[in-house]
Amino acid sequence: MECPKPLLSLRYRVGKYVLEIMLLESERYCLARRGEEIVFGTSAETLNRDIHESALGETVAPFILLKPVNVVGDRSLAEKLFCEYYLRILVEEYEGLRKIFQRNIERLLISTIYPIVARISRLQTTYTWLKIVFSEHLRDNGYYSWLHGMIYSCFREEGFEQFSRLIPLRSLMHLLQDKKGAEKKISTRIATMTRIAAELASPSIIQAIPGSLLIESISYKPHPLLRDPLLLTRLDAARVATKLLDFYEQLYALTGLSKLIKKNKPMTKRAGLVRSAVTLEVSGIRPAVVKRYRDITAFKWIVAAILSLPLPRPILGTRARLNNEYYYNRLLSELGYNVPRPILVDPRRRIAAYTYIDGKDLSIILQEDGDIKSLFYSLGGILASLHRDGVSLWDTNPSNFIYDGKNLYLVDLEQAREARTVSEKAFDIAVALYYSLLYNTKNPAERAESLVKGYMDAGGNRDAVIEAAKYKYMAPFMTSIPPNILEKMRKALLHSALGS
Ligand SMILES: Nc1ncnc2c1ncn2[C@@H]1O[C@H](COP(=O)(O)OP(=O)(O)O)[C@@H](O)[C@H]1O
Ligand SMILES: [Mg+2]
Repeated sequence: MECPKPLLSLRYRVGKYVLEIMLLESERYCLARRGEEIVFGTSAETLNRDIHESALGETVAPFILLKPVNVVGDRSLAEKLFCEYYLRILVEEYEGLRKIFQRNIERLLISTIYPIVARISRLQTTYTWLKIVFSEHLRDNGYYSWLHGMIYSCFREEGFEQFSRLIPLRSLMHLLQDKKGAEKKISTRIATMTRIAAELASPSIIQAIPGSLLIESISYKPHPLLRDPLLLTRLDAARVATKLLDFYEQLYALTGLSKLIKKNKPMTKRAGLVRSAVTLEVSGIRPAVVKRYRDITAFKWIVAAILSLPLPRPILGTRARLNNEYYYNRLLSELGYNVPRPILVDPRRRIAAYTYIDGKDLSIILQEDGDIKSLFYSLGGILASLHRDGVSLWDTNPSNFIYDGKNLYLVDLEQAREARTVSEKAFDIAVALYYSLLYNTKNPAERAESLVKGYMDAGGNRDAVIEAAKYKYMAPFMTSIPPNILEKMRKALLHSALGS
């Protein structure tokens, strides 16, 4: 097939071959092969449709993301097509990230090349030759600087000056919103109509891919970035784990323990009574607590009781809980509360590591008959402050507060939420009190008085305390704590609220 003189010709390295993509003037196409030179010609219009709406199944569009070895013709047209495809996949890959990081998407940073790598990572499973082509490009440093230059101009074209190669997704929200709207409009207008037309008008580029390259590509091991594009992301205060390595291996590397571990086997110790968190220990050093987000109903007996009552409901999904915990850990840290620092987060395998807080949680202090009165006063103060900041914890089980001898730290924020109603605040107060009776049943009235005093002294909401004294908040505990003790606590709660 003869190829006419093109508007633009772009030559790419494709394995040992050179692929020349020609943009032709009209709705024509051509395909030619001379030894290791392959020529594929299509109209700018058709490529445009593949770029915007996958009219050719995105078989041609990915090539526009490669660094050409040679350009003949209108260079700015190539740049324009690059930007249009880049912005489209930026919008679409953002949606994919949102499924993984949920509300933490606003705390996520991505390399500007992330959308490209993520897109090719998916396309390569169908179009296997892309594995070879992009892996080879990604091994070449020149490709990165070229890409960054291209992306920089795309952003500038959109009125967005971007110098850093790692950008907070938050800073792109406006751009993404605009683009999302625009892409939708285009696609609903012409999608199906043009798809049919384009498919008829053009041969597939697959015909141009040499058979030997196809065969080689099937068993070809792609570049690590293509195997896990999340390597190109991080959270504002933690690393995102890659699925290419064991979670603990990454944690050892991040905490600088890899060397120690060669000499001493790390130990993991179940933290507290609960199964989902373990403390890591190597040669007496405790770098982290690792938490696995399991199915909640498997071990949280109390959840079943709560679900059957008109009480604030728990978040059940494993990934949602992991994300929620990170989100509130960061939020509370920014608001000045004492919380552990996140280290490594794995929303796909549902594991996260936080720094170890050296202290005792309140459930242990209760069992040891420690200074409960003053600690419950402090706890009341923290709850009041959280409620004023519009946050409630839901799970105020005393084991979720760790006292390091000076401060109370908040852990286990997987159920934290916006304190919308008085009921959420009341629930925090009630659970902190009644749950504590599981560890120690002495002086229930005194404990309630201390917590309420702390709560009210710190500007807490009196209605929330009165609400907490309702029977329904006590009900989940009735099967495990003697009713007379519960009732003593409930009365003290009510009297302290009315009396203070
Ligand atoms: N960062 C931490 N430092 C020290 N101990 C912790 C830390 N995080 C959790 N723990 C301990 O592990 C226990 C279980 O962790 P938690 O996050 O509460 O998980 P669960 O959802 O199973 O309750 C806590 O009650 C606390 O005693
Ligand atoms: Mg807990």
